[in-house]
Amino acid sequence: MTHARPETVIRLENAGKVYVMGQQQVAALDGIDAAFEKGSFWAIMGSSGSGKSTLMNIIGCLDRLTSGRYLFQGTDISAYDDDALSDIRLRHLGFIFQSFNLIPQLTVQRNVELPLYYLGWEKKRALPVHGILPPWWGLRPG
Ligand SMILES: Nc1ncnc2c1ncn2[C@@H]1O[C@H](COP(=O)(O)OP(=O)(O)O)[C@@H](O)[C@H]1O
Ligand SMILES: [Mg+2]
Repeated sequence: MTHARPETVIRLENAGKVYVMGQQQVAALDGIDAAFEKGSFWAIMGSSGSGKSTLMNIIGCLDRLTSGRYLFQGTDISAYDDDALSDIRLRHLGFIFQSFNLIPQLTVQRNVELPLYYLGWEKKRALPVHGILPPWWGLRPG
């Protein structure tokens, strides 16, 4: 029996991030190599200030490396601009933030639907919540 090689979704090569604040430079990431395979689960642990949030921001395409490479599904996205990174977030990444970052003016349903709107699903209004949220939420398409 042959086993397919696990697919690497995200790869970091010699990844570095330096924050510049006036004269001061902080090397938050210093030459990280990592590969995250499809279907794998990871926990990133470390003391306060060790660079966890910086790494998550990079992996989540919210920020860019200052050196090294970030390969997403085999494509080097290190130099992608904000729009291109937004598109990857929209299509491929899900986030649960510590403070949730829901939009308080919107209902739960509308919060769920918002990314689908950006994906161009706005014409199919009745679709999203069904199948995404469990029935006991009791939500109806609005
Ligand atoms: N926006 C920023 N500007 C300057 N320095 C930063 C910024 N964000 C984080 N740092 C610094 O980078 C280092 C790593 O921070 P961070 O990634 O937040 O660590 P952690 O999440 O593990 O606590 C720390 O020294 C922190 O002070
Ligand atoms: Mg943090």
